[in-house]
Order: sequence, then structure tokens, then C-alpha cells
Amino acid sequence: MSKIAVVYHSGYGHTKVIAETFANEIQATLIEVDQEGNIQDQDWDTLDTADAIVFGAPTYMGGVPWQFKKFADASSKRWFTRAWADKVFGGFTNSASMNGDKQVTLISLHTLASQHGGIWVSLGLAPSNTKSATRQDVNSLGGSVGLLVQSPADASVDEIPSGDLETAKQYAKRIKAITEKFIAA
Ligand SMILES: Cc1cc2nc3c(=O)[nH]c(=O)nc-3n(C[C@H](O)[C@H](O)[C@H](O)COP(=O)(O)O)c2cc1C
Repeated sequence: MSKIAVVYHSGYGHTKVIAETFANEIQATLIEVDQEGNIQDQDWDTLDTADAIVFGAPTYMGGVPWQFKKFADASSKRWFTRAWADKVFGGFTNSASMNGDKQVTLISLHTLASQHGGIWVSLGLAPSNTKSATRQDVNSLGGSVGLLVQSPADASVDEIPSGDLETAKQYAKRIKAITEKFIAA
């Protein structure tokens, strides 16, 4: 049984729903980076013993919120000892605009995983991009590096497009399957 941890920040609750959707699909452990940019001491132990770590953050001003960056900088303590090297990693971001510079955030999560010597898992799902495509489709935002979610600016946390939530579930299953292959090898 693989151990997968999802560490995320959410300012207003939308990214929290995505993190929960992702984690519930594969019984992953959820770790919230709080409004002060901190996680609990036992959360660091959970991350250290995880087979896979998934980073999640909304896109604020074209990047991660400062709280997630504080967590990322705090993880340098693990970098010094290569504590997270060779773990499986993935990531997701959520923002209001269809584009909204989400890719910048995703690449920063990928880079953080790479700094730690991780094995990054791409989204692995074909885009839904024909004339008949809708926001109920899987991967209608056409992501490839990781999971992209768009929560319209006036959407409540219960109004995240269903296709994006389904994409989160499918990405979760992919990360779990790859992690289990990896730890069995
Ligand atoms: C300070 C701030 C900056 C934001 N910057 C962006 C942005 O660069 N691109 C974008 O598409 N949406 C941006 N948004 C919208 C959020 O990404 C969007 O509302 C998201 O769903 C918030 O997630 P959360 O509820 O988990 O905090 C910004 C919101 C805030 C509060």
C-alpha cells in the first residue's frame, strides 16, 4: 500500500475542495499549509515517510501564494539531507481565469519537486479541445505537466467545473498507480 501525501494551501477554499477530491480518490493524507504558511511537526514526518508527495496551490499574481512559498522554503531543510530524493511527485493549481498564468505556478511546483530530486508525474490525459468540448469534459483546460483547475471568480467552492474535478480524480489514480509500480520495482 503506497503512502501518498497531498500538501496544499487554499486562501478561500476552492483549492481545498480540489485537494480533498484528489486525496479522497486514493486515500491520500491531506496536509494543509495554514494561513501563516506553516504545517504541523507531525506533517513533516508524514512527508518524510511518504512514497509520493503532491503539491497544490492556487495561482495568485501568476505564482504560488506566499504561504506555499514559505512551506517550499522551509522544505530546504529536507533538501540539505536529500530526504525527499527519489520520491514520486505531482502537482496542481487552480485559478479564476481559463489561463491566468496557471502554467507558471505548475512549473514552479515541478521545479520544487526537481530541487528535491523527485520523479515528477505528468497529467497523462488527452485534452478535450474540439468544437463539441465542454467544461464537463476531462482535461478541457488541456494540461500536460500537471493538473489545472479553473474556478470562475464568482464561483462558490461548490461550483468548481465537474470536468476539472474528474480530471483531479484521474490524475490521482495515475499518481497512485505509478507510485505503486515504482515502490514494487
Ligand atoms: C491575491 C490573489 C491573486 C490572484 N491572482 C490570480 C492570477 O494571477 N490568475 C488567476 O487566474 N486568478 C487569480 N486569482 C484568483 C484565484 O486564483 C481564484 O479565486 C482561486 O479559485 C482561489 O483559490 P482558493 O479559494 O483556494 O484561494 C487571484 C486571487 C487572489 C486572492
